[in-house]
Amino acid sequence: MTERINALLSEVESLAAADEKELEALRIKYLGKKGLLNDLMADFRNVPAEQKRETGQKINALKTALQDKLNALRQSLATKEDSHDDLDLTRTPYPVQLGTRHPLSIVKNEIIDIFSRLGFSMADGPEVEDDWHVFSSMNFAEDHPARDMQDTFFVEQHPDIVLRTHTSSVQSRVMEHTQPPIRVICPGRVYRNEAISARAHCFFHQVEGLYIDEDVSFTDLKQVLLTFAREMFGPDTKIRLRPSYFPFTEPSAEMDISCNICGGTGCAFCKQTGWVEILGCGMVDPNVLEANGIDSKKYKGYAFGMGVERITNLKYQVKDLRLFSENDVRFLDEFVSAN
Ligand code: DAH
Repeated sequence: MTERINALLSEVESLAAADEKELEALRIKYLGKKGLLNDLMADFRNVPAEQKRETGQKINALKTALQDKLNALRQSLATKEDSHDDLDLTRTPYPVQLGTRHPLSIVKNEIIDIFSRLGFSMADGPEVEDDWHVFSSMNFAEDHPARDMQDTFFVEQHPDIVLRTHTSSVQSRVMEHTQPPIRVICPGRVYRNEAISARAHCFFHQVEGLYIDEDVSFTDLKQVLLTFAREMFGPDTKIRLRPSYFPFTEPSAEMDISCNICGGTGCAFCKQTGWVEILGCGMVDPNVLEANGIDSKKYKGYAFGMGVERITNLKYQVKDLRLFSENDVRFLDEFVSAN
């Protein structure tokens, strides 16, 4: 009996298990119901009375040794599992989710890119502007309806300070410190006191264009706008200019392009006309040149202003203006391939 116990005790030291399964097999073999330890216990009955005490202690010691060993094996299996043997600190922790450029930025950059290639540089001006740059210098009469409270956000207690309603204010900013030739585009955000809906918003984006030099003609304007329309919407795009009115241009026009959604045959977007309006333009009114320190006898110019949302709607068929400012990633993710 003692020999069997000693043999088992020396076995304990060398027990090993590669995984949970092997460990469980060991437990059953030694400590299970029909295991070796219980075999010993069964035979214990036959041990002579004077040896019972010593043998009993040995069996107990064996049991403790077995339990300790199996616990140690279990422990080492557990630590092995999260021992990070394959840890590679240089690996990217998870696939980096790239953001996407906002659709309005994509289109604005495209507009900038087209006009840069035509020789236009960029100009900027403040969104919180004074009445002079937004209205007076742009030839708005004192009682012009655009100054009305319904369109313009005024800064409280400062009737002279407004949120610019158009980027035409930057024309004035440029002219007051630059003599011709001037050839700039001015992208930026503008504000109007409008109820927010699918078709209107209290802020939106425009790109203004201004070209002043000697001998600038309406033909130059038309050619630049045609080039722009074809670059933006494809080489088959047609344009048409309809007479219009703006205080700062004379003559003035609005430009339509052939509807790029139906190709000009008529659809809901172009209200079955085959044409969609994309910008206002005209020859800079001599009053505007003079008000901003430019000799209207020597210089002439053209100007245009377009809505970035409108062009984006046309390019991507976005039907609700509010999507542009809600920052819903499901909408923004749609533009991942356009980046
Ligand atoms: N400022 C005009 C608007 O907000 C757009 C515009 C029309 C700008 C004609 C121009 C222009 O420079 O020549 O509706």
